[in-house]
Amino acid sequence: PSSAMGMGDVVREELGSLHGIPLYKSFVEGWPQVETFQARPDDLLVATYPKSGTTWLSEILDMIYHDGDVEKCRRDAIFNRVPFLEMKAHGVLSGVELLEKTPSPRLVKTHLPIQLLPTSFRDKNCKVIYMARNPKDVVISYYYFYQMAKMHPDPGTLGEFLEAFMAGKVAYGSWYEHVRGWWEKKQEKQLLYLFYEDMKKDPRQEVQKILRFLGKEAPEGVVERILHHTSFQEMKKNPAANYETMPTALMDHSLSPFLRKGISGDWKNHFTVAQNERFDQHYREHMAGSDLCFQMEV
Ligand code: PPS
Repeated sequence: PSSAMGMGDVVREELGSLHGIPLYKSFVEGWPQVETFQARPDDLLVATYPKSGTTWLSEILDMIYHDGDVEKCRRDAIFNRVPFLEMKAHGVLSGVELLEKTPSPRLVKTHLPIQLLPTSFRDKNCKVIYMARNPKDVVISYYYFYQMAKMHPDPGTLGEFLEAFMAGKVAYGSWYEHVRGWWEKKQEKQLLYLFYEDMKKDPRQEVQKILRFLGKEAPEGVVERILHHTSFQEMKKNPAANYETMPTALMDHSLSPFLRKGISGDWKNHFTVAQNERFDQHYREHMAGSDLCFQMEV
């Protein structure tokens, strides 16, 4: 992968650190505005570790918020419809600035670990939907994302990237701490904890769960439209959902498309037997004592 990146490497830089969590330097610079962010009681927070189905869940929620009206959900790119709270980059509105201009009820995307969530979300008792995905598929998806999204440092070989991931030395830090941190809050009524693998297996059931959590009802035809519009195939060809409107200098879809495969178990096409054994061992150690379980394939 290193050689395939060629001359487009200019914007790549090492990660900074936010309270011990590795993060893009520009996001760290923007942190004071994020920390003091003013949530509104009817904000819905979409929280994930990167590459866990954020965009999928966001599209589903925007469809729910617009009663399954596909045209309304094409009004803008997903990263504008569901602003990314801690995003800060040169020359564009930051997540906080975009959110301030967004009418209620807002959908808010974040990848922050729970301990860094701005206090305002709790003070205002906002609802949160967290989506988690098994770490083997996350790390593969992240590896491809590091290659196509140029704000990341060079990921190196897959072997090197696996080590960095296990050590928590990737953007947003340790997957293990992230999923466990949010899981420990799941007894709170305002948090719905979902899994990518469940969504793959039975999207209708998961959409119904979301509707119940939001206290909404939708006629069967609307649910049907939501499921169709948010399928991988539909989202992949939808410019408002597939990130193709991002400048190529930031995301180069010719290296790897943002909507890459959208399956569970793709890690099997990438891990060696030895890498898998090492990963399993590390996983057991770092998930010990937790009742949080992941399906590594569906
Ligand atoms: S990000 O950058 O963290 O916001 O990325 P995120 O959206 O969380 O994760 C991207 C992965 O989700 C897959 N995806 C989907 N899978 C199934 N169905 C649908 N509709 C869908 N939409 C996005 C996307 O393909 C990335 O996973 P991989 O494994 O790389 O394909």
